[in-house]
Amino acid sequence: MRAATVHLGERSYPVHVGGGLLGRLGEAIGKYLLEVTGCVIVTSPFVDVLYGGLATAAMEALHRGKVLVPEGEEAKTWDAAGELLGALTGHGLDRRGVVVALGGGSVGDSAGFAASIYMRGVRLVQVPTTLLGQVDSGVGGKTAVNHSAGKNLIGSFHQPSLVVCDTELLSTLPKRELRSGLAEVAKYGVITDSILFKGLEVEAERLLAADTNALRWVVARCVAVKARYVKADERDDKGIRAMLNYGHTLGHAVETLSNHSISHGEAVAIGMVAASRVALSLGLLKQADLERQIALLEILGLPTETPYGIAEVLPLMMRDKKAEHGSIRLVLPTGIGSEPVVKGVSEAEIRGALGG
Ligand SMILES: NC(=O)c1ccc[n+]([C@@H]2O[C@H](COP(=O)([O-])OP(=O)(O)OC[C@H]3O[C@@H](n4cnc5c(N)ncnc54)[C@H](O)[C@@H]3O)[C@@H](O)[C@H]2O)c1
Ligand SMILES: [Zn+2]
Repeated sequence: MRAATVHLGERSYPVHVGGGLLGRLGEAIGKYLLEVTGCVIVTSPFVDVLYGGLATAAMEALHRGKVLVPEGEEAKTWDAAGELLGALTGHGLDRRGVVVALGGGSVGDSAGFAASIYMRGVRLVQVPTTLLGQVDSGVGGKTAVNHSAGKNLIGSFHQPSLVVCDTELLSTLPKRELRSGLAEVAKYGVITDSILFKGLEVEAERLLAADTNALRWVVARCVAVKARYVKADERDDKGIRAMLNYGHTLGHAVETLSNHSISHGEAVAIGMVAASRVALSLGLLKQADLERQIALLEILGLPTETPYGIAEVLPLMMRDKKAEHGSIRLVLPTGIGSEPVVKGVSEAEIRGALGG
């Protein structure tokens, strides 16, 4: 059940992965968090309909209340965070109380942000209900709300005390959300875990059918990877956690150009292939390892080609925070499961690799 421990000294915490864990949430909180006076569940309306009842029952005597935040990115506004903080006081949460984030990455980010500032910080339990939440946002302590000047611009680092990934919850996830999450899984495979990559190739069909066992294996492997990166570079200032941005620089540009009609995971898949082409043209990656990625992403039902020309994409990539002095810092793969390199790549080199 314990798939990983995020080792951060006295702030270390376990990450549990398995089917049916939501029903035993109160028990797990009682076991791993000391002197809890009560818990408030933060969730979104849709997730509440599906799992709010089960979660509430599972909290047993610890239950103090439930707060609904808006669906998706609407949860991550300054106003929504303010309302959430007000609701926490309304439920009488005290300094020994716990915020339980039950939902996708957007719920996790806003509830995490609120937990980090409520009474100067209360404990947080992440219960991610999307694949992206389980393999990425639920672990690592990044919290944020958005600002008109930029996404995730206002936030904090606030590590959870416990993360519970119940893979059975993923059975209700829309297929497109599942596929988007699998793009991030493939990313982990490329940058550090060839066994995970192979597992995706072999189990693609079962994963797309939301088979609990296949998902449990994948999520457990991913949280172990994420835990390693977080331990090595908790605050993302040593250049190690930056490796997780593989596929994200061009990906973000495509996501923005499409006005988010291309989902984050779809954009990451496109970005991975583009970064691999750059790596290939610089002699860092073999053709076979580019083709293997394209084949896997296609089996997973993910796009691999940008619908936008290089002339449209490049200006947005240059605006990305990873760009400096006319070159763009890209995470470039060196093989399946081998450590990538981070390298400043010129516009000309990108044009050379991607055409245009
Ligand atoms: N903190 C981090 O480290 C980190 C990392 C990556 C992404 N993020 C953030 O995560 C957010 C995206 O998260 P997301 O992809 O989980 O999207 P999301 O939170 O918007 O959820 C997507 C949709 O899925 C629904 N949903 C959630 N669980 C479900 C389930 N089990 N069954 C059916 N439907 C379900 C939700 O109601 C929502 O409508 C972004 O805001 C992004 O910035 C944060
Ligand atoms: Zn991502």
